[in-house]
Amino acid sequence: MMKAEDYSQGEAFQAEKRTIFSTAWLPVCAAGQIGQAEDFLSATVGGWGVVAVRDKAGTISVLRNACRHQNMPVVGVPSGTCETFRCRFHGWTYDLAGKFVTAPAPVAPADARSPEVNLVSFAVAQEAGLVFFTLAEAEKVLPLTLDVALPPYGSTISTDIACNWKVLVEHLLLGQPDEARDFAWHWPLLALRRAGALAIVEQVVPHTFLRTRLLTHVFGGRAEEHKPSGDMIKQACEHLQADRSAGTMAIDDNALLADFHRQLGAAYAESPTTT
Ligand code: FES
Repeated sequence: MMKAEDYSQGEAFQAEKRTIFSTAWLPVCAAGQIGQAEDFLSATVGGWGVVAVRDKAGTISVLRNACRHQNMPVVGVPSGTCETFRCRFHGWTYDLAGKFVTAPAPVAPADARSPEVNLVSFAVAQEAGLVFFTLAEAEKVLPLTLDVALPPYGSTISTDIACNWKVLVEHLLLGQPDEARDFAWHWPLLALRRAGALAIVEQVVPHTFLRTRLLTHVFGGRAEEHKPSGDMIKQACEHLQADRSAGTMAIDDNALLADFHRQLGAAYAESPTTT
């Protein structure tokens, strides 16, 4: 049974980092958001700062956004295009696979060939037009099973919401009929809706325990037409967050919501420090 504190306290989020976000494939962006060579996008996913980047040959990497010199964020902008990542603090420079390239002499590492000076690189998978990464060893994570064919990627809109990530998931699942053929939920952070020729992927991005981003990726059309729906979801979730903080929990009104709470319960049972 979920409690109000699970939706409003940082301790619950820290436990979820260990039991949920460290043990699953996490979506980071649509592959089309870094569609060209040398495109990158930085984000905070499940509390971790990461950078998704496509190199000149088209290979996508997901790197920890933490410089190996003094652990500061290497990338300080949400997205862009570049040939190398140069840390703005003291100038350590990495290639687009995260490999250390150079640093100014006064701050240069003792051993430039040590793997310890490369950015940490995560296992990456692509499915349903999205880029996923995992902090775990790839072979120990349940495989991705989205297995869907989508129309060509259109675009993405981003909506920042002052709520816990679970509130947004519950809102997306609320009222979904048990037999909905045009809606699918993928634990822990993805919903897929079909609307005629469009496919809309709602990606939940947990930044911190009370800051969540909704990325609405539209395939087969343009996302800009869905901006009003993002605004409505934001309003609804911020109200729901106030309800949760006051102790009003979601009622399982369908099988998807019940399954989400069952999986949360199983994850929480693994962490004695989760409330
Ligand atoms: S923290 Fe990045 S170069 Fe010093």
